[in-house]
Amino acid sequence: MSLIKEMIRKAQEEKYAFGTFDTSNLEVSQGIARAAEVKNMSAMIGVTESAVAYAGFLPLVNLVNGIITESKADLVLHLDHGKDPKFVKRCIDEGFKSVMIDASMNELEKNIEITKNIVTYAHKKGVIVQAELGKIPRMKSSIEEGTTLKQMEKTDPDEIEEFVEKTGVDTLAVIVGNIHGMYKPEGNPHLDFDLLYNLRKKVAIPFVLHGGSGTPSEDVKRAIKDYGIINVNIDTEIRVAFVGGFSDFCISGQMATDPRKVLAISRDEVQKIVEKKIDLFRCDK
Ligand code: G3H
Ligand code: ZN
Repeated sequence: MSLIKEMIRKAQEEKYAFGTFDTSNLEVSQGIARAAEVKNMSAMIGVTESAVAYAGFLPLVNLVNGIITESKADLVLHLDHGKDPKFVKRCIDEGFKSVMIDASMNELEKNIEITKNIVTYAHKKGVIVQAELGKIPRMKSSIEEGTTLKQMEKTDPDEIEEFVEKTGVDTLAVIVGNIHGMYKPEGNPHLDFDLLYNLRKKVAIPFVLHGGSGTPSEDVKRAIKDYGIINVNIDTEIRVAFVGGFSDFCISGQMATDPRKVLAISRDEVQKIVEKKIDLFRCDK
């Protein structure tokens, strides 16, 4: 059994979640890997199309793969929110062990068609596929116009069985009140447990919770313990920790001529937040 399949199986059996922690550079990737080692916990390191646009495909993928190879922790390279099927296939060809095809911007039928196509391609190469049903909104800033929780399209219980059955997908990102980003003008989002209950009744597939940043800890634990969430995604809180470490150094008035002196502080901040999330997702406190 591949490492990622074993990670999913163990999380299901023991009712905890492993994290997908997103990266776009060296220090974030190192911070994630170090946290996983310290906590002796498996994790996925997620890269997105925008991270690749920033860093370059081979520079980022080789960097993360190098860190995974040298790490003592069980880590898996994952494509997060792959929206372009050609790009998703490239990731599969280049050795990713887990990919997300996010065709959730389409109507149900099209989402099924695109997802199924990727599943067929991926499974031939032993790669697992995550998909999304429903639409998760993103909060970027308090002044971003037109982004509100009203734009959320929660996962429809009437669609989930058909989606899972027809696509053959391995894990499913469900939209149950969760949103991307930290800033929530309407307050931190609580998860819709009635909906989660209804979805869980319909399918046995492992669920993934996106938008983990800012979601109340009690909600995250309950979703993991009682509703089969086996994987939680964190991006924004990592970015905030990284930039926070950098900013604190700058405003402290200290001098640095070596970028490593500053970036090591950011790396430590990333490690700290990832360690906290790992503890939370373990649900053993
Ligand atoms: O796919 C990425 C995640 O869903 C991250 O969400 O930025 O709210 O932590 P977040
Ligand atoms: Zn996400």
